[in-house]
Amino acid sequence: MSDADILRERRRRVESAWSATGIDGPVLIPASVPIPIDGTDQFHEFHAHPEFQYLTGVAEPGAALAWEPDAGWTLFAPTLTIEDLVWMSAPPSAAELGAATGVSNSLDRSELSGWLESQRGRDLALLGSRDIESRASEYGVDAWSTLEAVVDEDATERLGRALAELRRAKDALELDRMTRAVDAAVAGHLAAWHVARHGLSERALQIEMEAEFFRQGGARTAYGSIVGSGPNSAILHGTPGERIMSDGELVLIDAGAEIEGYASDVTRTFPVSAQFTGIQRDLYNVVLAAQEEAIASAGPGVEYKSLHLAASATIARGLVDAGVLIGSPDHLVAADAHALFFPHGLGHMLGLSTHDCGGYLEGRVPEDRFGLAYLRADLPLAPGYVVTIEPGIYFVPALLTDPARRERYREMVNWELVDGLLDFGGIRIEDDVRITEDGCEVMSAALPKAAGEIEAIRREALGAAHG
Ligand code: GLY
Repeated sequence: MSDADILRERRRRVESAWSATGIDGPVLIPASVPIPIDGTDQFHEFHAHPEFQYLTGVAEPGAALAWEPDAGWTLFAPTLTIEDLVWMSAPPSAAELGAATGVSNSLDRSELSGWLESQRGRDLALLGSRDIESRASEYGVDAWSTLEAVVDEDATERLGRALAELRRAKDALELDRMTRAVDAAVAGHLAAWHVARHGLSERALQIEMEAEFFRQGGARTAYGSIVGSGPNSAILHGTPGERIMSDGELVLIDAGAEIEGYASDVTRTFPVSAQFTGIQRDLYNVVLAAQEEAIASAGPGVEYKSLHLAASATIARGLVDAGVLIGSPDHLVAADAHALFFPHGLGHMLGLSTHDCGGYLEGRVPEDRFGLAYLRADLPLAPGYVVTIEPGIYFVPALLTDPARRERYREMVNWELVDGLLDFGGIRIEDDVRITEDGCEVMSAALPKAAGEIEAIRREALGAAHG
């Protein structure tokens, strides 16, 4: 099956899901237009709206896709003026976009105004980027308001939800792109492991890793790479800076490449020297056990939240064993005491977005509870879903020195021990996991995670650096 055939099939599934809603109005899905950078005549890196990219397989700024139950799909391809072409590369023609996307009715964008005029009097569902409402001229359309387009918010919401549900299970084209993105991520992490050493900055590590992402076909990073050494490894979304890493510390790297719009998202934590210290190893193995148990349990029909709660219990038990928490693991999880050290969810859906759509089943909402507030997915897993599984243990000074939390968890935490670990940092282990018919496949399995395996690679890398 060609890519265009897969895209046609994808759109057929969407049409049938949309038809089943009973909504028969037209739908417009703008791709988005680039956002200017103040003080320059350039633009921020362009990210197509994922709904447009899902439906077309391409990320063309200023393009738009339309759907009508009778007429089907129409693609409006962007055109640039001669003046624009002095500064920017030419976009693909309507015919080229038609061939790439499999949308046979692929027109020049100058036809979009006429299409909108022809919908006058009908309610329009507006998916994709809503920047067209304020920046219509950049889609080649006279001011949006003069068209008297009436956006039906209810239809927009219902069709958007139907689309998000379909986007949960990845098709062959998506899995091919995701596999390449994950492979590039694995290569980048390994490149970082081979250069990391005492005296190097976080920034230098980021550069080596991201260079490998690009060498492996990455178009960009899937999100801002997170590289934290020493205490910085406890900053969940820490930006790599000039901090110099030292022997005895941990380094946490959470980073992935993006290929053809698809994200990878992988985390490993490793020692700057070739060896985890005693407490580092103990806590590392707790996180690893929580992660491996979750992966072993993941499969069709399994509730993602139950995986999160089981991982929370394993972390609570490990922290009790390490002398950090006091009490029964079940009681500690019920009281959210584990969340002092694991203050995020087990992971999220992955796809065109790093936190991909559809994480919450309809009718479910994030719970306003310390131990569950940052859970990004609450649904039964099904074949084709790709999720991250990424438990962690951190010593976050802001949380652990908060008087209210210290009072609330006075009896459940060994505060004296914790106060001595405030500069420990954190440990997170994250893989990208595809749910299969009978379990799951770890897409990032090529990146080792057993403490001994990591130490062997680090020993070799440091030996090579010194030899
Ligand atoms: N890995 C970054 C995030 O999940 O937010």
